[in-house]
Amino acid sequence: MHRQDFITEIPKAELHLHIEGSLEPELMFALARRNRVSIPFSSIEDVRQAYQFTKLQDFLDIYYAGADVLLTAEDFRDLAVAYFDRAAADGVTHAEIFFDPQTHTLRGVPFDVVMEGLLAGVEDARRRHGMSVLLILCFLRHLDEDSAFATFRSAEKWFGQISGVGLDSSEVGHPPSKFAKVFAAAADAGLKRVAHAGEEGPPAYVYEALDILRVDRLDHGNRSLEDPFLISRLARDAMTLTVCPLSNLKLCVVEDLRNHPIDIMLEKGLRATLNSDDPAYFGGYVAENYRALVDAGKLSNRDVATLARNSFLGSFLNDEALTHQL
Ligand code: ADE
Ligand code: ZN
Repeated sequence: MHRQDFITEIPKAELHLHIEGSLEPELMFALARRNRVSIPFSSIEDVRQAYQFTKLQDFLDIYYAGADVLLTAEDFRDLAVAYFDRAAADGVTHAEIFFDPQTHTLRGVPFDVVMEGLLAGVEDARRRHGMSVLLILCFLRHLDEDSAFATFRSAEKWFGQISGVGLDSSEVGHPPSKFAKVFAAAADAGLKRVAHAGEEGPPAYVYEALDILRVDRLDHGNRSLEDPFLISRLARDAMTLTVCPLSNLKLCVVEDLRNHPIDIMLEKGLRATLNSDDPAYFGGYVAENYRALVDAGKLSNRDVATLARNSFLGSFLNDEALTHQL
């Protein structure tokens, strides 16, 4: 089988995907028109031109502006359906997707509208692609913990449909410890916990995510490699890292994919997985992330199989569902 077919065909789980980051410029324009919302771009070409980032914050500013077009449950459903269709074409059979409710509730879009739309998309993915999907509610770390708690309370009636909580947005200056209480409440409610840590922030933030937030999974985690004790701990505990190569490249976490640390992560025995993060902004869905690292000489076919297997081992599927997927 041709290498690229192997990458597409091998069943994969996607564990690090911001649904708002899958908003393609075409859909952004269509929703802006449908909702009569003005956006700071004159054409689709203009949008793509703006996607030049030197750091995380450059991207976040554009990502939050783009999300302004999402207003109704139908918008969230259309967004989710578009992602699931694209992911299914890439061989994704299970997805655990992030959503950022505060990005919407602070603009006056009710939490329930976001949930109703996303759940309609999830149902469509189940029905048309046989895909299993879990939802992870992310708190925006540049906001305060009271705002996270307000979001947590709005989510309570949906806990049967939400698998976990996460932490995203501007990392540096907003350590995981800022959200200790709301993550403890999430643990008490039986929710899984994940956090972005070590994308731009130091290894100390990874320790806080592990020791204070008691995360089940680490999003990115690249800078863990600066600390040999941390590497040993992550390997010993089989902690899953949701690594996002094209995101790392676009946000200048690495300057070239030939310097991406994925091979080092695997050599050190870390349970790394590959994911697309915000594919509409970073130039590729999940298969493209695998392909880019293969093309950079970083992965053998065997590594591709290991990473795909890791994506299921690191998922929140229960043992029975896992047996079906593996
Ligand atoms: N929100 C969307 N993508 C993100 C990323 N890569 N890091 C932090 N917050 C995000
Ligand atoms: Zn992310």
